[in-house]
Amino acid sequence: MAAAPSLCVLRYFNRWNKNLKKEGLCSVLLRTSSFSGRHYCSSNLVAAACATALRSPDLVALEYADLNLTHKVSEELGHVRIRQHVNPLSASFSMPANVPDWDEVFKDPTLPLMVDVGSGSGRFLLWLAKRNPEEKNYLGLEIRQKLVKRANFWVKELALSNIHFLFANATISFNQLVSTYPGPLMLVSILCPDPHFKKRHHKRRVVQKHLVDSIVKNLMRGGQVFIQSDVLEVALDMRNQFDADVDVLHHIDALSQSVLCDNEGWLLRNPMGIRTEREIHAEFEGARIFRRMYQKMT
Ligand SMILES: C[S@@+](CC[C@H](N)C(=O)[O-])C[C@H]1O[C@@H](n2cnc3c(N)ncnc32)[C@H](O)[C@@H]1O
Repeated sequence: MAAAPSLCVLRYFNRWNKNLKKEGLCSVLLRTSSFSGRHYCSSNLVAAACATALRSPDLVALEYADLNLTHKVSEELGHVRIRQHVNPLSASFSMPANVPDWDEVFKDPTLPLMVDVGSGSGRFLLWLAKRNPEEKNYLGLEIRQKLVKRANFWVKELALSNIHFLFANATISFNQLVSTYPGPLMLVSILCPDPHFKKRHHKRRVVQKHLVDSIVKNLMRGGQVFIQSDVLEVALDMRNQFDADVDVLHHIDALSQSVLCDNEGWLLRNPMGIRTEREIHAEFEGARIFRRMYQKMT
């Protein structure tokens, strides 16, 4: 029989239950065993969550509970309908994105920059930006404009001055955008990119040689690239492309004993402190996440 949840756990649980009921969701929380350590990850809470029906969107809401975002958006932007995939090769995505005035989008545009390619809803980057307000700037590149609008709405709501989202086809705009940024590029993440399974659609994948070259060129010395996918084939494709730059980019497990990888060189843990939405959905469905981290040496 499950252990009885403690009072504080129940309070936490009930608070979220109220918020989530507004969205028509049941309240649940479960962290996978591969990702523990957050304050609400207690066996009691997991036991409480297990007593209810689990759905992965509920887990996303709870994993990002600190941001307290969802209900504010529907009032201002209406319901954001999200198309599953777009074709980045279509004419409407072929124009390079306009370079913003970095002084307008960031309070201090000389801070080191993290770029998340294919930032989706933006919650992952918002979470990081909120935790590191004075240390880094965060830029999300996303090809679905509605997601970008909503994410920038959230930026305002949270009054964050170290994060911005741009509507951009990252494959073609990355270099132009990042090379004009006044500070150093310290981290690029490409997390669970759209798989485009059919062979004839592989050219739609965001990681193409041109993007890899741009990342390697713009990254500061010691800067890092973090890639992951729940689809092994996609992870291997990204891995092969970044491994090809072995003179400049080194796989991190060769550099640090503290970074644990399996025999194939996949990171055993998410090193970011929070899972992305796709990662939460995939792990909920029992998938494994294939992760790899690189560091620029020269
Ligand atoms: C499967 S989602 C993953 C989102 C997020 N990284 C996560 O892990 O939850 C992939 C995202 O990449 C975006 N995307 C696909 N191709 C892109 C491109 N060429 N440039 C920018 N974003 C792209 C998609 O619109 C989508 O939001």
